[in-house]
Order: sequence, then C-alpha cells, then structure tokens
Amino acid sequence: MAKVLATGGMGYIGSHTVVELIKKGYEVEILDNLYNSKETVLDKIESLTGVRPKFHYVDMLDAEKVDEVFKNGNFTNVIHFAGLKAVGESVEKPLEYYKTNIDGTLNILNSMKKYGVKNIIFSSSATVYGDPHQDTCDESLPTGRELTNPYGKTKFMIEEILKDVCVADKDFSVTLLRYFNPVGNHESGLLGEDPNGIPNNLMPIIMRVAKGDIEELSVFGDDYKTRDGSCIRDYIHVVDLANGHILAMEHEKPGVSIYNLGTGTGTTVFEMINAFEKASGEKLPYKVVGRRAGDLPILTANAEKAERELGWKAEKTVEDAMRDTIKFLRG
Ligand code: WQD
Repeated sequence: MAKVLATGGMGYIGSHTVVELIKKGYEVEILDNLYNSKETVLDKIESLTGVRPKFHYVDMLDAEKVDEVFKNGNFTNVIHFAGLKAVGESVEKPLEYYKTNIDGTLNILNSMKKYGVKNIIFSSSATVYGDPHQDTCDESLPTGRELTNPYGKTKFMIEEILKDVCVADKDFSVTLLRYFNPVGNHESGLLGEDPNGIPNNLMPIIMRVAKGDIEELSVFGDDYKTRDGSCIRDYIHVVDLANGHILAMEHEKPGVSIYNLGTGTGTTVFEMINAFEKASGEKLPYKVVGRRAGDLPILTANAEKAERELGWKAEKTVEDAMRDTIKFLRG
C-alpha cells in the first residue's frame, strides 16, 4: 500500500485530500510550515478519520529538515501542495514567490531522488494556460504564454522542471493536476478554506463578508461579454478535487501525465453571489467596481481527459459548495 507525503497537507486542498486518502486506507504524513494554515487542522483530520497523521512542522526551504523527513519516511508517493498561492501578492513579492515555490520544490525533488521516491503529483493550476484566447481549456493547449503574475509563472516553471526530471529518469512518474477554481468545504463543516491574512479569491472573500470581517464584496466588473456581465469561472468542489488526486495516484505510471480538474461548467460572479444568498438565506452586500487587471472574461475546463483516463468526474455542484461553506462558516 502506498505511503504518501502530502507537502502543504494542512492547507485547504491538502487537508481535504489527506482526509480522503486516509478514508481510502492510505498511510499519510504531512509536511507543512503552517504559513497559510493552522495546527488545529490536524485535530479536525483526526476527528473526521480517526487517524492523526504524522505532522512534520517543516519549511520546505529547510533542505536539511526536508531530507530528515524523507530519510525516515519510506514514502512511495508525494503529493506536492506546498507553496505560496496568492496571485496579487506574487506581483508585489516576486522574489519570495520564486524562492519559496521553486527552491522549495527543488528541495523536495532532491530528497525524492536521494531516497528513491519516484512518484509525484503536483498541485498545478489553470493559470499555466495564461490567456488561452478561448473560453474552455484542454490539456493540449500550450502553457506559459502571456502569464501575468509570478505565482502562475512558478506553477509553469515547476511543471517544466518536473517534465525534465522525467526525461532524466525514465522510472519517474509525474502527474500535473491543473485546478480551476476550488470552492466548498467538507460536508461536516469541520474543514474549510480559512486562509491566514487577507484572501484573494472570490469564495474566501464572500465568507469574510458574510462573517462581517469585510463590509461588502467588490465585484470586479460587470461589463464583460458574458450572460450577466460578470466573469465566468469553473468552480470545482474541493472534495471532488481531493478525489481527483487519489484516482490520479492510483493511475500513476512513468512519464508525465497532465489533467485538468474542473467541472466543465461555468458560473458567473453574480450567480455565485445568488447561490450563496440562497444557501445562507441572507443578502450578501456587494458593489460593482472596475475590472481587476489580468482577469479573463471566461475560463472553464475541458475535463474529459480525466474522466476518460482516470474515471474521474466532478460530482458536486456550486450549490453543494455553498451549502458546505455555510456549514463551515456557522461552525
Ligand atoms: C474569481 C472571479 C474575479 C474576488 C485564481 C488563480 C488560479 C486559482 C484560482 C490557484 C474572477 C471575481 C474575485 C473579488 C471578484 N488559484 N472576484 N471580487 O482569478 O479565477 O483564479 O484563483 O490555483 O490559479 O488565478 O480566482 O477567486 O480570484 O476570482 O469579483 O473580491 O471572481 O474577477 O472573475 P481566479 P478568483
């Protein structure tokens, strides 16, 4: 049975994936520096699964401590979630993003090589498509074009590093999972998106507005050529996303495999607001402001390849995500 190291496993997507891995019987350890998460997540994983995974409070930039984790871990697989992920912040702090995301990944890969760990699933992003100049993305599209921020560039660069590792080591298995817009929370309401500091993404901001931490949501533009003028995105439930990782792991083979993880369905910002209000039974205060630089009008996934090759398909809806989010918010 595989033994998995989840880097960033205390984070939003990582913790949901750890829960699903444990439920499927996998042995999991977590490496995380708690930059964007809290140690209480471990208690929630334990309460949901009955298992308290071993937690290494380690920064992936500390090569010696990363090596120590691998030396004693006997891992067969790595799922690599750890990294900085705020698009806007990456524009202000490019050096921090390149150092953390790239150097950190190189430390993980060097230890994998040293201890013969040959399988990695990388938490990539639809951002690597840049501006695809089309509404729906499939995996055959070129990447790395017109990337508008260091965050997206680090995701692209790490994908390229992993491809090169596979050229050098024919036994190495790389799976690139390109997420679209993760939303929602575990149905228990115990696990959820709760980033430290000021969030950047739509859903955690909606959650902060609903809690009263932020006065109102700013809708970045209502003059796009879409059905209601606001941008369209492919919002995928985090539990569907987690299960995509497990199926990807169970289908690992030498070489590079690339999959979009999305629903194939687009939802506008106003539709997200309406869905949240319907689930919460309360109005969500918002105002329409100017467009945000870099936003694309429409970005949705063609996720047919994951369905065809992994037998994976998103099952949950935006309504499910809103219901779970409300439950998480109300605690
Ligand atoms: C969604 C929509 C905004 C905030 C980014 C990354 C991508 C992935 C997901 C990691 C857009 C609108 C948002 C707000 C708003 N991250 N919005 N008011 O930009 O699609 O994708 O996060 O993998 O890589 O690029 O997500 O949640 O920021 O925005 O109107 O306060 O909500 O304009 O249309 P995005 P987002």
